[in-house]
Amino acid sequence: MRVELYGCVWIDGLYSYSGPVGQTIGKPGAAIVYLNDSTYDGIQDSRRSHDGLGQLTDGVFGLDDFAQSHEYRVWPGYDYVGWNNDTFTGQYVELEFEFDQRRNFSTMKVHCNNLYTKSVKIFHRVQCSFKQQLVANWERELVGVTTVMDDKNPSARFVIVPLQQRLGKAIRCQFYFADRWMLFSEISFQSTVVDAGGANPLEHLHPFRREDTSQIPDAWSTPRLNAGIGLGSEPSPTSKLTFSNTLGPTLTHTASSLITLIIGSSPLPTISGHRDKADDSNASILIGCLVTIILLLLIIIVVILWRQHWKRILEKAPRRILEEDATMSPSLYNDTIVIGNQTQIFQTNPTYERVFPFDLEYQEPARLLRKLPELSQSAEDSACSGDYAEPDLTKTTPHQGFQSNVPHYAEADIVSLQGVTGNNTYAVPALTVDSLIKMELAVEEISRHQLHFKEKLGEGQFGEVHLCEAASLQPDFLFNTGHRPVLVAVKMLRSDATTNARNNFLKEMKIMSRLKDPNIIRLLGVCTRDDPLCMVTEYMENGDLNQFLCQRELENHFTLAKNIPSVSYRSLLHMMTQVASGMRYLSSLNVVHRDLATRNCLVGNCCTIKIADFGMSRNLYSGDYYRIQGRAVLPIRWMAWESILLGKFTTASDVWAFGVTMWEMFTFCKEQPYSLHSDEQIIENTGEFFRNQGRQIYLSQPTVSPKRIFDLMVSCWNRDIKDRPSFEQIHHFLQQQLINAA
Ligand code: ADE
Repeated sequence: MRVELYGCVWIDGLYSYSGPVGQTIGKPGAAIVYLNDSTYDGIQDSRRSHDGLGQLTDGVFGLDDFAQSHEYRVWPGYDYVGWNNDTFTGQYVELEFEFDQRRNFSTMKVHCNNLYTKSVKIFHRVQCSFKQQLVANWERELVGVTTVMDDKNPSARFVIVPLQQRLGKAIRCQFYFADRWMLFSEISFQSTVVDAGGANPLEHLHPFRREDTSQIPDAWSTPRLNAGIGLGSEPSPTSKLTFSNTLGPTLTHTASSLITLIIGSSPLPTISGHRDKADDSNASILIGCLVTIILLLLIIIVVILWRQHWKRILEKAPRRILEEDATMSPSLYNDTIVIGNQTQIFQTNPTYERVFPFDLEYQEPARLLRKLPELSQSAEDSACSGDYAEPDLTKTTPHQGFQSNVPHYAEADIVSLQGVTGNNTYAVPALTVDSLIKMELAVEEISRHQLHFKEKLGEGQFGEVHLCEAASLQPDFLFNTGHRPVLVAVKMLRSDATTNARNNFLKEMKIMSRLKDPNIIRLLGVCTRDDPLCMVTEYMENGDLNQFLCQRELENHFTLAKNIPSVSYRSLLHMMTQVASGMRYLSSLNVVHRDLATRNCLVGNCCTIKIADFGMSRNLYSGDYYRIQGRAVLPIRWMAWESILLGKFTTASDVWAFGVTMWEMFTFCKEQPYSLHSDEQIIENTGEFFRNQGRQIYLSQPTVSPKRIFDLMVSCWNRDIKDRPSFEQIHHFLQQQLINAA
């Protein structure tokens, strides 16, 4: 059997009290209030209780209405012990208190009821005598006070009786009735232990110590007490009374301003300036406990925060959840840049550092990074080394698709916008975002009436995507459709979207309107004049590449014979080459995709591929994102180590993702990358990539993939970004493979 005891060490030193048993108010048959000491643990006969402790020391202060109780389902009067004046010839109740050892008493606090309307009042006088030993006689010198009656305030209250630092092992007090009834709920003593030799170590400090009889006031001068009530009448059981340090007759209940005792006529030995040792030891134990608890809590909180902090940082990091405020960091506006003949001068390192600063916060993905003390500037160096794939200040954009007034993406910081329909906008140089606000949309405004809803293609947190027929839309890049209706995908922003989402949607339009490549999904038009805001993009009839491949097999005799939907190796290679081409285009603009994967590529006629970006808008792929606090945020299985650890997203990290995308394609999307590994293991593996000690796990070679192509994949996962191929090289290589496969 295991027994656990909870509680506090009883340091008051009170062993027992004894006194007349409590009585009852009311007659049998009527409502009776029981004022007996119901929890008394000593001996109780018909007249007296002795050798025990009970209601008067249970730490519970009775309510103003003595018939009520804090406790649930107890009888009326439960909290009080009370006596009737009629039954006491001397008109007082005598209580005796025995202590563990000799003590030096500073005060006695008596919690009394004062419901004068029911003939209950606090005692009007008390006198106490002391005994140095239990077997000794009571000393003749008494200490006491007379109180001032209060017929105005019926609140229960503490009456504090100064005990003038008298020494003793037992105290006997006579409490004189002021009315028919006297009800106490709690009595406590403030005392310090007198040392073994009988001398109180603090005594010499006290100006009125017991032995210094010249300064001791006559105990029977019984100073008058005004037991007044402050803001309330009921301090909490744990409240500690402290007294002001001012010498003089006024004692103030400073802890809670509950009671002010005004000592009347005669000077009272001050208890000010004389520290109450018992209170001190109580306090120090309490403070010690509290400090320990607080420290433990702090440690627990720190550990929890330590574990979760990086997650939150990661949550902030990916572009898809970047708040506009974060992406449009103030530093963005500090930059100046030279664009053509414009006057801005760009000075800073154009990496993601601004958006994901290389700071402790982001360097701290849980245990992993704690295991990576070496993750320091060297990590960033290796992640950033080489000018490959990073925005290059000196480079001019080779791409012709941008008009002359468009800033060179290569020259600016990269930031990203979260697509408000749940998809991302590609990460673009920071400056661009700034400029985009001023920039015109490079796409035509479409009248809503031109769009005829056909079906819903998808739904995200921020809006819906509909398949529509667009009448008389003749996009320049489409072959002449003879003004036949064109199928388009219409992304609509929810009508209740926030202003922030709305602004992002508009910026997303502006960026997309500038992207013109056969392998990037094209923005055909927009509806911005009225709500809902719409982006009209090309429609790809075969849906996304993941679904497309997942529903197909590698073409062979069997699939051909059985008419099983299949894709030839060559088509697969062709699709891969198109993805590489689209990415080559984006990289030429230093636009970083940050979520390249088969789920973000669309398949049209004849296995044409266009890169899009749906972000997390589709539940189908929520498992591909590492969930932080219940939200899908990071496509960690596609992410380069430096993106996870350092928050660095560059074209080189897109190359990493391209390697994973190739792997997906060669496995016909039948399996998630690292499907046997948990998200945590993926992050652990990221650390291994960083350490580069040969313990990192790579995706295995898909059976369909030739060795040389698998080698290309593996090169995309090189630790150092300078060792990863460029999209230009990848595209070229794949084209060669395509020719060879012909
Ligand atoms: N958005 C969702 N599905 C799409 C599709 N099939 N083509 C273009 N955009 C889309």
